[in-house]
Amino acid sequence: MKIVIINGPNLNLLGKRENDIYGDESFQDFFERLQEKFKMVTLSYYQSNIEGELIDKLQEVGYSYDGIILNAAAYTHTSVGIGDTVKAIKTPVVEVHISNTFSREEFRHTSFISPNAKGIILGFGLQSYELALQSFLAAK
Ligand code: DQA
Repeated sequence: MKIVIINGPNLNLLGKRENDIYGDESFQDFFERLQEKFKMVTLSYYQSNIEGELIDKLQEVGYSYDGIILNAAAYTHTSVGIGDTVKAIKTPVVEVHISNTFSREEFRHTSFISPNAKGIILGFGLQSYELALQSFLAAK
């Protein structure tokens, strides 16, 4: 099973960024633990701060992978382009967020990803990614 985690802007700063909201662990450390725990999955990771690069990556994997775990970060709330790509591709996308975006500012309550996501997991810290991964394994 081939699954990719795609992270949007500023998620390369995890561990250094607003630790009260996003925790103390870097994504690289978390990702290595995840790979160790889910050895049966071919798991890869991509991060970009650039909207078009995220779209390119989604298009690249979106017809051949078994699942995409997408945290588009701030672009979740602004990007018609990423929303359109999620709609266009064939691979199911699970939208994740580290924080509970509904308990935060109102502009974070809108998502251009959600209408075309297979499901949404948010508010469980980095564990949101693990729960998304488990959802793909359970659906197998
Ligand atoms: C986030 C929530 C977004 O509102 C924010 O812009 C992020 C991270 C999350 O994972 O909680 O950068 O997607």
